Amino acid sequence: MTYDTRRLNRFNAQCIWKFRRKNKIFQAPGRVNLIGEHIDYNGGYVFPAAIDKVSTVAVRRRQDSIIKLYATDLQYIVEADLNNLDQYKNLKWGNYQLGVIDQIIKKGMKIKGAEFIFDDKVPLGSGLSSSAAIEVVTAYAILQLYGYKMDKLDVALLCQKAEHEYVGVKCGIMDQFASAMGLKDNAMLLDCNSLQYEYIPIKLDNYSIIISNTNKKRSLGSSMYNKRRSECERALADMQKKFPEKKYLCDFSYKEFISCADDIKDADCKNRAEHAVCENLRVLDSVKALRKNDISSFCKYLNLSHISLRDLYEVSCKELDVLVENAWMQKDVLGSRMTGAGFGGCTVSIVKSESVKEFIEDISKVYLEIIGHSASFYICNISDGVKEI
Ligand code: GLA
Repeated sequence: MTYDTRRLNRFNAQCIWKFRRKNKIFQAPGRVNLIGEHIDYNGGYVFPAAIDKVSTVAVRRRQDSIIKLYATDLQYIVEADLNNLDQYKNLKWGNYQLGVIDQIIKKGMKIKGAEFIFDDKVPLGSGLSSSAAIEVVTAYAILQLYGYKMDKLDVALLCQKAEHEYVGVKCGIMDQFASAMGLKDNAMLLDCNSLQYEYIPIKLDNYSIIISNTNKKRSLGSSMYNKRRSECERALADMQKKFPEKKYLCDFSYKEFISCADDIKDADCKNRAEHAVCENLRVLDSVKALRKNDISSFCKYLNLSHISLRDLYEVSCKELDVLVENAWMQKDVLGSRMTGAGFGGCTVSIVKSESVKEFIEDISKVYLEIIGHSASFYICNISDGVKEI
C-alpha cells in the first residue's frame, strides 16, 4: 500500500469529472432505524429505512491485480493487491471496501483490479450506517463491473460477512439489508431470523422524520457492541435450560421470558434479554399501529424503545439522552429515540412539519448549552437502496 499525495493533487475536479464520464457510477444509502434496536442479531424484527444520505462511487477496471481507493474528502490513496488482501485489515479507511472484495474472491468469483473514487455523504460513525453504505456500494459496483449478477439480499449477506471476518464487528444484517434493499418512501419490516421482509409505506401526514446528530463519534462502539452481543448469548444460554428449543432471544414471548428470567445468572444479561424480548414485541405493535395510520401510537413505541435502550440495554449516552428527552418536551414532537448502535451517533424524531424549524432552533440551543458542542439536524427523506446511476 502506498499513500501518494502528489498523484492525488493531480486528481483535481476536472479529472474526477473525466473519470465519471468514462466509468460506471453507483450509489448506496445509509439508513435510519425507526424501531427494533439491537435485535437483528437476536433473531428479531427490525424496521429500518434507507435515507437520502448516500455513498457514491465511480469505478473502472484495471488489467492487473491492484485495487486503488480514492475519496473526495481524503488526502491519500489506498493501494492494495488482490493477492494479498489479508494485510489491510487495520486501515483507518479502506478496510470496509477491501473486506467485501476479499469476500467476493473467497466466493470464487474471478475479478481483476479496479479504481474507485468514493464520495461519502453518510456522516461517518454517526449511527446512520456509513460503513454498510460503503460496503454495499463497493460490492455492488465491483460485481457489476466484472459482470456478476447477485441478488441484492445476497449482496447484503456478503457485506455482513465481510464486516464480521475482515473488520471484526459482529453486526446483524439490518444495516446492509437496508442499504441494499431500500425503497423510496417505504420502511422495511424485516424478520432477521427468516429474512422475510415487507415494505411498509411511510405516510406521516403532516409529520416529518428528523435526524439529530450528537456529533459524538462512537469511539468505544465496536467493542461495546460485541460485548452486548455476548451478553445476549449468555442470557440465552441460561434461558435455554427451560426452553432448549428456542434459538434466539426474540423467540421468547414476554410470559416465557418471565418464567425463566430468574435462571439468568448475571443481572446485566437479564436486562439485555428483557430489552430484546420487549423490543421485538414493540416493533410488531408499532407497525400494527402504523398500518392503521395511528402515528401517535407508533411514536409511543419509539419513546419506549429509547427508555429500554437507555435503562436496560445501556447503549445510550448523555448526548443522545439530551437530544431525546428535550425532543419529548416539545409540543409538536410525537416521538423520539436513539437510532443505530448507540454510544453516540443520531436520534430520530417525528416532528410536525410546520414546527421543524422551531424544533431545530430549540434543541440546538439546549444541546449546545448542556453538552458544549453543536448538534446537526437533517430532514430525512426515505430513498432507494443500492443502484447504478
Ligand atoms: C449496528 C449494527 C446493526 C444493528 C444496530 C443496532 O448498526 O450494524 O446490525 O445491530 O447496530 O440495532
